[in-house]
Amino acid sequence: MTLRAVATGIGHYLPERVVPNSEFEAQIDTSDEWIRARTGIERRHFAAEGETTSQMAIKACEAALAHAGLSAADVDGVIVATSTPDLTFPSTATMVQHGLGMTQGFAFDVQAVCAGFIYALSTANAYILSGQAKRILVIGAETFSRILDWEDRGTCVLFGDGAGAVLLCAEESAGAATDRGVLAVDLHSDGQFRDLLYVDGGVSQTQTTGHLRMEGREVFRHAVEKLAETAHAALARSGNAAQDVDWIVPHQANLRIITRTAQKMGVDMDRVIVTVQDHGNTSAASIPLALSVGVARGQIKKGDLLVTEAIGGGLAWGAVVLRW
Ligand code: UT7
Repeated sequence: MTLRAVATGIGHYLPERVVPNSEFEAQIDTSDEWIRARTGIERRHFAAEGETTSQMAIKACEAALAHAGLSAADVDGVIVATSTPDLTFPSTATMVQHGLGMTQGFAFDVQAVCAGFIYALSTANAYILSGQAKRILVIGAETFSRILDWEDRGTCVLFGDGAGAVLLCAEESAGAATDRGVLAVDLHSDGQFRDLLYVDGGVSQTQTTGHLRMEGREVFRHAVEKLAETAHAALARSGNAAQDVDWIVPHQANLRIITRTAQKMGVDMDRVIVTVQDHGNTSAASIPLALSVGVARGQIKKGDLLVTEAIGGGLAWGAVVLRW
C-alpha cells in the first residue's frame, strides 16, 4: 500500500465581465480576426474594479469544497499559485484561508507564473506523500488585467482573470499505474531566459508593480519544444504511455501551442481540454480552470488518466500526470 494525493473536488470562478476581442479594436491596432487566428482566443474575463485575486480564489475553493462534499474545517493546507497577489505580503493564501473561515492548518503562495499550478500541485502532493497534510486546497488564481500594458498589442489581448481550485486528499492505494491520484511530476526552470517573459517592476528593484513584457515568438518556440518533452517524461515516470492518456489538460496560452504539443505527443485533439477561446491566458489559473470546465462539461470522468503541462516566466515549466 502507498499514499496517493487524489483530487476529490474541483471548482472555479470567473469574473462577471466578459471582454470580446472586438473591444480591443477601438483602442489598439488589432483585430478579432488576428487574435483568433494567431491565438485561438475569442474572449476573456476581467475582474471588476476592487475585485481581488483572493476573492476569486475563495469562490473557487467554496465550489471545490461543495463538489467534494467537505467543508473548510476538513482542510489542513491552502496553497495558492499566483503572480498577481493581493498585496506584497501577507500571502494571498492566508487571505483565502481566512476567507474560508479556517484558523487551522498552513497557507502559503507559490510563484512560478504560468507553471504555478503545476508547481503547487507538485508541492501539495509532496506534503501529502510525506504525511504532513491530509487535505490541501491547491489553487491557481490571477488578476493579470492589473499588470497589462494596454498599449502593447503583443500582450494585452492575450490574458484574462480567473481562479480554479482542486481539493487533494490523501488516500491509501495499491501503488500501481492504475491508482487514482497524482502519479508523477516533472519540473524544470532555467533563469537564463528571464528576459523572455517578465514584469518590469517589483518590490526590491523598482518599488512599483510594473507591466508584463514578453518576447512572444521566443516563448512560443520554447513552449513547443519543452511542453511535449516534460509531458512525456512525467508519463514515462508514471508507468503510462501516450496512448493511455484520456485527456491532456494543457496550460491555455495559445491554441497553436496546444495543438502542436498534442501532435508531438501523438494525442488527438479530441482528447485535449481546450478553454483558451473563452478564458484567454489566465496564467496559473488556466489549468485548474480547464480541469473544472472539463469536469463540468462531462469530458473528464473518474478514473481518467490526465496529463497537465505548462510553461511560463522564468522560464519555468513542468507536467503532472494524475488519474482523476
Ligand atoms: O503563458 C506564458 C506563455 N506564453 C505563451 O505561451 C505565449 C507564446 N507566444 C505566443 O502565443 C505568440 O508568439 C503570440 C500570440 C504572442 C504572437 O503570435 P506570433 O504568431 O508569434 O506573432 P509575432 O509576434 O511573430 O508577430 C507577427 C506580427 C507582427 O507584425 P510584423 O512585425 O510581422 O509586421 C506583430 O507586430 O503580428 C503583429 N502583432 C499583432 N497584430 C495584430 C502582434 N500582436 C498583434 C495584435 N494584433 N494583437
